[in-house]
Amino acid sequence: MAEIRFDGKVAVVTGAGGGLGRTHALLLASRGAKVVVNDLGGAPDGTGESTMMADKVVEEIRAAGGEAVPNYDSVSTMEGGANIIKTATDSFGRIDILINNAGILRDVSFMKMPEDSWDIIFSVHVKGSFCCTKAAWPIMREQQYGRIIMTSSAAGIYGNFGQTNYSAAKMALIGLGQTLALEGKKYNIHSNTIAPIADSRLTATVLPDDIRKKLKPEYVSPLVAYLCSEQCEHTGGLFEVGAGSFFHLQWSRSAGSTMKTDEVSIERVADNFGKITDMTGAKQVGSIQESTMSFMENL
Ligand SMILES: NC(=O)c1ccc[n+]([C@@H]2O[C@H](COP(=O)([O-])OP(=O)(O)OC[C@H]3O[C@@H](n4cnc5c(N)ncnc54)[C@H](O)[C@@H]3O)[C@@H](O)[C@H]2O)c1
Repeated sequence: MAEIRFDGKVAVVTGAGGGLGRTHALLLASRGAKVVVNDLGGAPDGTGESTMMADKVVEEIRAAGGEAVPNYDSVSTMEGGANIIKTATDSFGRIDILINNAGILRDVSFMKMPEDSWDIIFSVHVKGSFCCTKAAWPIMREQQYGRIIMTSSAAGIYGNFGQTNYSAAKMALIGLGQTLALEGKKYNIHSNTIAPIADSRLTATVLPDDIRKKLKPEYVSPLVAYLCSEQCEHTGGLFEVGAGSFFHLQWSRSAGSTMKTDEVSIERVADNFGKITDMTGAKQVGSIQESTMSFMENL
């Protein structure tokens, strides 16, 4: 297969000063993309800031012969999002690819979850992806080309102890990415979502050292780059990715139970609960229309 390249394309990678964002940025730049390396440069819990992290990755890209500029704004304000995208248009004249990757953690059991830990997680992950995408969207629409990535998590899909804030935010990103895929389709703007697993400072406290060392973020970036390529026609996808494995996820629904509407009662629900929750013969549901239709058919 011919090498997949990004010559002439401009990419913004948020939170690219380390971990997954760094390897996404390095890979795209190594294949010809001009890259904005955004990073606030703070701690894993979202406190502090510095220019060092973004600068270091820009240096790495330039040392390898690539083109990159740094940006130090926080993704989580409208001004920050606008400025991140403006860095791309001012420096390179356009924006083709937006990888919403910036993230932090504030893990604590729900019982002890303070409001500020809830808010900051939503602010960085959900509002941050909104602010950056909102600034890029009109440009992508106008040029009839765009590739957007949302970074979700298995914690969002399956839930994870001590991560109610993070799980809820990561699930929100799936909804954001899915709806953008629908709204962007006719403008050739694709939106896909990944739930990665990789060694980074965010997994430092969660995974054992020997396993972590083998989970290179480099194993995740090729899928991200492919989804951001001109060659890839897929949109609205959700992928679990890491350690050399790649999976596509789709909702499936039990065969369920349908009763006459005038017979609906608590007891009928209780009687049929086994059937409602039995996933034998579950079917995939591909769209909201398909979902809605199955209800309408019983009216
Ligand atoms: N590593 C994993 O296994 C894993 C699993 C699931 C999801 N994720 C997600 O992948 C993304 C990347 O995480 P990572 O594991 O590479 O960790 P990381 O800490 O190395 O990367 C996150 C980067 O985002 C930056 N950042 C934080 N807040 C920011 C803000 N407001 N504005 C701009 N930059 C900001 C940080 O400085 C950091 O460099 C995150 O969204 C994370 O939730 C990672």
